[in-house]
Parts: sequence; structure tokens; C-alpha cells
Amino acid sequence: MPKHFLTILDIPKDEAKQVLLRAKEMKDDNVRTDLLAGKTLLMIFDKASTRTRVSFEVGVRHLGGDPVFIASKDSQLGRSEPLKDAARVLSRYADGLIVRTFGQENLETLVEYGDIPVVNALTDEYHPCQIMADMLTMYERTPKLEDIKVAWVGDGNNMAHSFINGAVTFGYQLSLACPNGYEPDEEILAKARGLGAVISLSDDPSEAVSGADYVHTDVWASMGQEEEQKKREKAFAGYEVNGALMAKAAADAKFMHCLPAHRGEEVSEAVFESPASIVWDQAENRLHMQKAILEWIYT
Ligand code: CP
Ligand code: NVA
Repeated sequence: MPKHFLTILDIPKDEAKQVLLRAKEMKDDNVRTDLLAGKTLLMIFDKASTRTRVSFEVGVRHLGGDPVFIASKDSQLGRSEPLKDAARVLSRYADGLIVRTFGQENLETLVEYGDIPVVNALTDEYHPCQIMADMLTMYERTPKLEDIKVAWVGDGNNMAHSFINGAVTFGYQLSLACPNGYEPDEEILAKARGLGAVISLSDDPSEAVSGADYVHTDVWASMGQEEEQKKREKAFAGYEVNGALMAKAAADAKFMHCLPAHRGEEVSEAVFESPASIVWDQAENRLHMQKAILEWIYT
């Protein structure tokens, strides 16, 4: 049976720590291997990407494999070829699928009908590669992840859901502040709490960031929600991560953002460009962490 990475919870807790340590080693030692020699990984993207696309293409090459990128709109998928058909065809050509799509159920269809590993490169529900990379970025500064407080200020979106899952696996305390009507999915939250995660949810950014070691945010309108931008700007008023908000976090708190960022909306220019902002390390760590995730899948 192939291993898949659809959410953080697909990696057993004890193995997740090993993946994290391996990602750090991959980074420190600038690791190149031939693990994927002779293997082709197809990258099927329904949505735009800079970091995820490039870090996977580079990472697959660092492991000796060949990435092949397909923008769905340029393929028959963009003309309604059923995913369950594509899954069976592509399984005969390639050794893995790295997929950015809308509904999580699309990935589940690829798993059900294909017989090669499937990696979630972002869905409407989750962004697990990003949050695993964020774990590395926080771990580099505070190795005891179970002792830190992570604040999420903004939309209860794919990023928030993966932070919720990450709290199960890595044991940090998570405080979310989301406007009314933009909270994370109740089932995802309830499941994580049931698995022991310590997570608070309010509509008060000050409460969420109080004493936090890391303050995370994301765009107010995700890909696919562009026409809601104006409505969301109203709903998210007061949710900008600015100097006044960061002052309520822990003394040496860091600001993080998966990028791309909208300065003047979810984050002020001053915070984004401040010494507290570690967004470039965060973006770099996508490469190292994804190499470690691929190694977990293919070893
Ligand atoms: N953070 C992230 O996933 O960026 P891209 O959309 O550029 O891949
Ligand atoms: N929540 C954002 C993340 C982009 C990396 C989106 O889904 O568009």
C-alpha cells in the first residue's frame, strides 16, 4: 500500500518528530540523495503557486527524481475529465502525485482510484506541507514545541485547520482568533481536541496573541474566494497584525506568514518587514521539510 500525505495526521506522532529532525538535517547538511532515482512525480495544480511548485520541483530533483508539472487548466482535467479516470491513467505513468486542488475529496478520489502516493500541496481544507515547514521554522528557535504558544489571527481556513492538526501532533498550545462566521470547521476542531490538543478559539486577536511565542496570519480571501474580498475586508477589520498587536505577544515573539502576503490588510508593512518577521526562513523551510516528507513516503 502506498503512503499518502493528505493531512498532518497521516504521519504517526512518533514518526512526525523524526521527519522534523530529518528536515533539519536535510537543511544543515544540504542533503542530496538518489532516493527517487528513476521515479517521476507528477505535480497537478488547479490553483496558482510560487513556493509550493518551485520547492517541490527543486526538492524532487535533490532526491534524484523527475518532477513533471501539469496545470490542470491545460490538461483534459480542465475540460472535465473525471479525476477517477485520470487517477488510473496517471498511476500507470508515474510514481507519485503532488496535488494542489479545491476540495479535499479530490485527493481522496486520487487515493481511491490510483495506486501511487498522493501528497497534498494545498486544498481548501488543509495545507499540511506548509504547517510541517512552519514546525521546522519554530523548532529552529524553540526546540521544545510542546512548550510554546502559537497564535492564529484571521480566517479559520486551510492554514488554520492544519495548525489545529499540528497541535495534536506537536503538542503546542494554539489560540485562534477568527471573526464571527469565519471560524474553523467544528468537526476538525472537535477531533483535535478529542485527541488531546489544547486549542482556544475566540474573536479577539488581543486575547489570542497574549503571551504567544509565534503569531501567524494569512490572507483574508484564499484562492477561490476572490469575489468575497470586499465582504471579507469588512468582516476582518481589526484583524491586522500590527505593532500594537505584536506588543501583546511574548517579548521575543516572531511573526510568521505562509505568503503571499497582503501588507496593509492582514499584516502591517512595519511588522512584515520587522526583525520579528521570520517569513523568509519559513518559505525556505518548505524545501527542506518537503524533502523529508518525500523521504518518509518513499522509504
Ligand atoms: N505558501 C504557499 O503555499 O505559497 P504558494 O501559493 O506560492 O505555493
Ligand atoms: N489560505 C491561502 C494560502 C495560500 C498559500 C489560500 O488557500 O489561498
